[in-house]
Amino acid sequence: MTTFDEILPKLAAIFQRHPDVASIAPILVNRDLNGRVRLIMDEKWETNPAARAELDAIAREARDALGPHAHSAEQMLMFEPNIEGSITEESAFPLEDCAGINVVDRLAMEGDWAKITPPLTTAQRIVFFSIKGGVGRSTALAATAWVLAERGERVLVLDMDLESPGLSSSLLPQDRRPAYGIADWLVEDLVDNSELVFADMVATSELSRNGDILVVPAHGKDPGEYLSKLGRVWMSKAGRNGQRESWPERLRRLLDRVEERWRPSVVLIDSRAGIDEAASACLTGLGASTILLFAIDGDQTWTGYRMLFRHWRKAGRVREIRERLQIVGAMIPETGADKYFEELRERAWDAFADELYDEIPAGAILSEGDSWSFDQSDESAPHYPWAVRWHRGFAALQSLHGKLSVIGRDEINAVFGPLIEGVMASVEIDRDAV
Ligand SMILES: Nc1ncnc2c1ncn2[C@@H]1O[C@H](COP(=O)(O)OP(=O)(O)OP(=O)(O)O)[C@@H](O)[C@H]1O
Ligand SMILES: [Mg+2]
Repeated sequence: MTTFDEILPKLAAIFQRHPDVASIAPILVNRDLNGRVRLIMDEKWETNPAARAELDAIAREARDALGPHAHSAEQMLMFEPNIEGSITEESAFPLEDCAGINVVDRLAMEGDWAKITPPLTTAQRIVFFSIKGGVGRSTALAATAWVLAERGERVLVLDMDLESPGLSSSLLPQDRRPAYGIADWLVEDLVDNSELVFADMVATSELSRNGDILVVPAHGKDPGEYLSKLGRVWMSKAGRNGQRESWPERLRRLLDRVEERWRPSVVLIDSRAGIDEAASACLTGLGASTILLFAIDGDQTWTGYRMLFRHWRKAGRVREIRERLQIVGAMIPETGADKYFEELRERAWDAFADELYDEIPAGAILSEGDSWSFDQSDESAPHYPWAVRWHRGFAALQSLHGKLSVIGRDEINAVFGPLIEGVMASVEIDRDAV
């Protein structure tokens, strides 16, 4: 019996046994929502006897090999007029070692990890993500926002952790919260009523003396029927021109509008943790320039990141995203910090080298730009963790807002220094490039 993971390798083996299929290419392997496969070709081959014989043989072999993961004999082959159009679909990716054969994977979720929006040139969007929750991501984001604002930046902060919101309460006292939040906008947008909430979904934190911290919370001062709204935020929307707009696209539209209205110099986005649909929209759908991957050392962290990196590699998307990634070493313990950091760096390097860095053949002499790869000890490498230290002053904080208003710059630097320096450098470098 064939399981899901064997579908593509078995299909690749079949196509390789039929080299003549190259003349029929392009062929699309369509893997539907249930994980059943069919093959789609240009309609001109339907009546071509030689091509038909080849395709029928492939279809028979595929049905035998894939069992329940193949469509029935009548539905296995499909002939379509505009095959080239389907191949340029964003989610299509090449079947490994089979020239001219592409896979289109239909997923039940819309946040597609392999659909990667290029980085924006207008605003610097920085996403804070982690595989595991509770690693100090939101706290680090708030501290970064505060330091950037102290340096005169106009920082926009978005709480995209809609299922477990908390960032805004750490930056805003109750009486400064706006009436609405991201969930309200996404729900009102479904009935073309988002303008009503747009005017009152951003609040300024009074923490910043030099610059600004603008906060867009997940929900407003009174969350209202939050669960009922949350059950609808992920909906796609039928646009006026009949085109469907996916919810990650709606989210992007919201962010574009907020930026247009509030003109921030930097945008910090608190993503949901884990390989989750909402997280995928933040990482791959918002055109972020920097994606911070918070990591505490442990199997769960590295298994998770490896799954994600491998998905990008298999889907042929690595080059579109890898240069925006950066590991952050979260909550580096007080005791044994050096050893812990070294192990974290080693495991990060293993994952990057296996999945994201270019392989450099032994003995090869390369000039700059030939390949994208880093030594394990290269401090400028994306696998080299920007350290955030565990600090008792931040453990089990009730109100970060209260903490930030009394804390000194030195203490913040001692805990978050390398992260904040890294973010500032990436903002400045990118700004020069624009
Ligand atoms: N550097 C730190 N040192 C010690 N404790 C910390 C540090 N950063 C955060 N904490 C504490 O750890 C807990 C989790 O922090 P935080 O909410 O920032 O994590 P998170 O990764 O955003 O979690 P979630 O996944 O739930 O959103 C909080 O109690 C916080 O006060
Ligand atoms: Mg959080």
